Amino acid sequence: MDKFIIEGGHELSGTVQISGAKNAALPLMAATLLWPGNYKLRRVPALRDTATFAKVLETTGAVVSLQSDVMRIDTRNCDNAEAPYELVKQMRASFYVLGPLLARFGRCKVSMPGGCNWGPRPIDLHLRVMEALGARIELESGYIIATGSLKGADYTFPISSVGATGNGLMAAVLAQGVTVLGNAAIEPEIVGLGDFLNSLGARIAGLGTRTLTITGVDELQAADVTVIPDRIEAGTFLIAGAMAGREVTISGADPSHLGSVIDHLRQAGVTVDIADSAVTVSRPGAIAPVDITTAPYPGYPTDLQAQWMALMTQAAGPSSVHEEVYHDRFAHVPELTRLGARISLKGNVARISAPTALIAAPVMSTDIRASAAIVLAALVAEGSTEISRVYHIDRGYEAIEQKIAQLGGAITRVSDPA
Ligand code: EPU
Repeated sequence: MDKFIIEGGHELSGTVQISGAKNAALPLMAATLLWPGNYKLRRVPALRDTATFAKVLETTGAVVSLQSDVMRIDTRNCDNAEAPYELVKQMRASFYVLGPLLARFGRCKVSMPGGCNWGPRPIDLHLRVMEALGARIELESGYIIATGSLKGADYTFPISSVGATGNGLMAAVLAQGVTVLGNAAIEPEIVGLGDFLNSLGARIAGLGTRTLTITGVDELQAADVTVIPDRIEAGTFLIAGAMAGREVTISGADPSHLGSVIDHLRQAGVTVDIADSAVTVSRPGAIAPVDITTAPYPGYPTDLQAQWMALMTQAAGPSSVHEEVYHDRFAHVPELTRLGARISLKGNVARISAPTALIAAPVMSTDIRASAAIVLAALVAEGSTEISRVYHIDRGYEAIEQKIAQLGGAITRVSDPA
């Protein structure tokens, strides 16, 4: 398992190119299962998670290749509507195949994901929306068996769910009749999925609003698509710039997807300049403490909560973090504490005492975003921080060490055979 060694105190400056979004690429990859054909996805990030999802597609019989950032997927000979536990347990997003496999084959077998590093993360809403569309759902030895030919229906999600909206959308595209999904997710990744489905011939109206109306169609045709920029990677580098940078620019981003994080950075006293697809942050004299409360889009993203907490350890006073999407998502707290952060946790609220001088220590990467927070903290800690188990970072950040090094950060990857 690889490690990172980060020597803190090196100022970051320059420009970093943002990759395609992991959480947009995965549902697009799933959507290619809906209809037999040859698909080309551009700007696919080379990540562990996209590689894992490629294996899920290959299990169904798809042929997948990734060359530079172009992924070709041939789903013409898919004949196995199954996603095995070995893959789903590595990455919950594998569950995205439920909707398209069921829609295409009328039957599928998808392993239940099990827990993740910060809590149970249920799948009940994915199953409820399939049942609303007429599927029969059974549980057999840890696998969901879904069967039935789907029919349009009205279903309102009790809470906003990115994954369940995506799955419902893919299932409804080929259902007979009209489906109306209420309280649907409006994240850019879902809009990206819907746009792609429409380019295949689907009839989805209301993308980007809470009500999606899907008129079922009998057939689709394959098409090409470009993945949207990764707003979470972009936000992570903006926060890195605010913490450790003189002037850091992210390019190839979509600033319209970054509203909440930019607003919060400005409240913290960071100068943020926006120009087309680039955003530049200049580090302020002092970082003002700013509380955050995570929320579905367009609120402050839970996927940038850990990174914000790392920033707030350097603020000129105390602040709080309210985690409202995943109440248990605090795996980064003990690791940040090992670096000297002073954080108290009660329920889903963390209180950060600041400013704190962080000091290097051996720490462990636990999940994708927690790991990013640790990397940010290590960039400003005194001394050399060793971060083990960086495969978590590799799940969601493309070549993060190269991008940080390009900005002047002192980071090295060390291969550890242990
Ligand atoms: N929820 C349920 N039942 C369900 C599904 C979700 O109760 O069947 C709850 C969750 O427990 C959570 C809330 O609904 O409290 C929202 O979860 P959502 O379904 O929106 O999350 P997701 O689709 O499983 C995606 C991202 C996550 C990101 C969340 C929230 C992908 C592949 N994953 O997960 O990204 O945190 O939306 O924005 O798109 C990451 O990239 O590190 C990551 C975890």
